[in-house]
Amino acid sequence: LRYAPVCGRSYQCLKDNEVLIRGRVHATRPVSKKIVFVVVRGKGFTVQCVVTTEGEGVSRRMVKFVAGLNRESIVDAIGVVSVPDPENPIKGTTQQVELHVRKLYCVSKAMPTLPINVEDASRSEAALQRGVQLPRVNQDTRLNFRVIDIRTRANQGIFRIQSQVGTIFRQFLLSENFYEIQTPKLTPGSSEGGSAVFKLDYKGQPACLAQSPQLYKQMAICGHKNRVFVIGPVFRAEDSYTHRHLCEFTGFDVEMEIKKHYSEVMDIVDRLFVTIFDVLNERCQKELEAIGSQYPFKPLKYKPKTLRLTFEEGVQMLKDAGVEVDPLGDLSTEAERKLGQLVLEKYDTEFYILHRYPLAARPFYTMPCYVNARYSEEIISGVQRIHEPELLIERCQACGVDVNTISYYIDSFRFGAAPHGGFGAGLERVVMFFCALGNIRKASLFPRDPRRIVP
Ligand code: 4AD
Repeated sequence: LRYAPVCGRSYQCLKDNEVLIRGRVHATRPVSKKIVFVVVRGKGFTVQCVVTTEGEGVSRRMVKFVAGLNRESIVDAIGVVSVPDPENPIKGTTQQVELHVRKLYCVSKAMPTLPINVEDASRSEAALQRGVQLPRVNQDTRLNFRVIDIRTRANQGIFRIQSQVGTIFRQFLLSENFYEIQTPKLTPGSSEGGSAVFKLDYKGQPACLAQSPQLYKQMAICGHKNRVFVIGPVFRAEDSYTHRHLCEFTGFDVEMEIKKHYSEVMDIVDRLFVTIFDVLNERCQKELEAIGSQYPFKPLKYKPKTLRLTFEEGVQMLKDAGVEVDPLGDLSTEAERKLGQLVLEKYDTEFYILHRYPLAARPFYTMPCYVNARYSEEIISGVQRIHEPELLIERCQACGVDVNTISYYIDSFRFGAAPHGGFGAGLERVVMFFCALGNIRKASLFPRDPRRIVP
């Protein structure tokens, strides 16, 4: 355990004070035929290993072998952790703690040249500090070689945060008596309206990939439990090639019975997201620092009790700032962004709930009141749904939705259905928002957009 601060989790204590670490060759620095330094990058640690013929060291052949190792090769190094003597330092040493290698095995050899550098040097402070001048490649090229790209400290941080968001989301909802359910991803038709669906042939019948778990989570409320949530893939055949649209993303969906008022749903949105932000700040400082060193950002500003504004109030704020918007339509991306700035200036928060949306801007299943939470980007949407079949049919007709294609859903409300509501959030948008990444592709391990299905 003495070695834990050096080696993080990827080490094993052997006998006689020896440890075994596994990691990638980050860099090699041959000093002479008798000594080479090799920086090994493992999960949660980077340590300099000294490979020398001196003392209880290794053979000259071994020094030569290590000096010739290609960057990113995976090695197992066995040695003794030591603190260099400041009175008598080994020539060329730079570290406070090192591993004096006794044995080193190459577990997997990397190619001599990498298609891209691990660190995007033009932006990585760490790389610049080391004086490394590397050519910069664009995001598209980095995504082509995502297996290398995701090795950067910043990307490791992003995906740890992504995993934490999922963990906190699940833990919070389970502790609030929600049940986790699974909904079909092969569906007979669209759920959000519009043509943004991936169509497929289902044994001779037209079908599509689920555009959201919307209809099924509501049907679950009709017959299953009174509070449910779903975590799963959502498919949108978006034509929008933008910084915030993906064709496949991870949907975090919640649905619950409403006892008195739709504000019960907003209360859950509020407590859930404030908990997510609080816990991320508490648990992920190291990751946030790593992300910030590559993509500098300021910590998200939010309040312990989330600000709630009505759509009307938002429209008025925009009008006062000289931005005209249609009070019965949706907000454009520019208007949304402007409102985010105005809210930040006036209320000092980037996270707020905008509710009572005009019906024309929302899908057919929406009760005439609505909630969105956003700052510049919409990250959550939803609130109360229609639970009366006749009103649902009326709204389908008004929105041009063919009732025959969703009769199974409408009929679910004919056997007694409680008032209910819920919301959906995109995991990648939440991470992009929290870390101010500016582009959703950075928050997706293998992004799918209108131009990309590989790798
Ligand atoms: O706003 P959306 O389309 O709403 C629904 O799917 C509803 N069924 C949710 C509800 O319960 N009423 O999508 C929900 C969330 C958005 O707020 C956004 O975070 C994310 O999903 N999202 C996308 N993320 C990435 N790429 C896209 N193309 C997205 N479209 C929506």
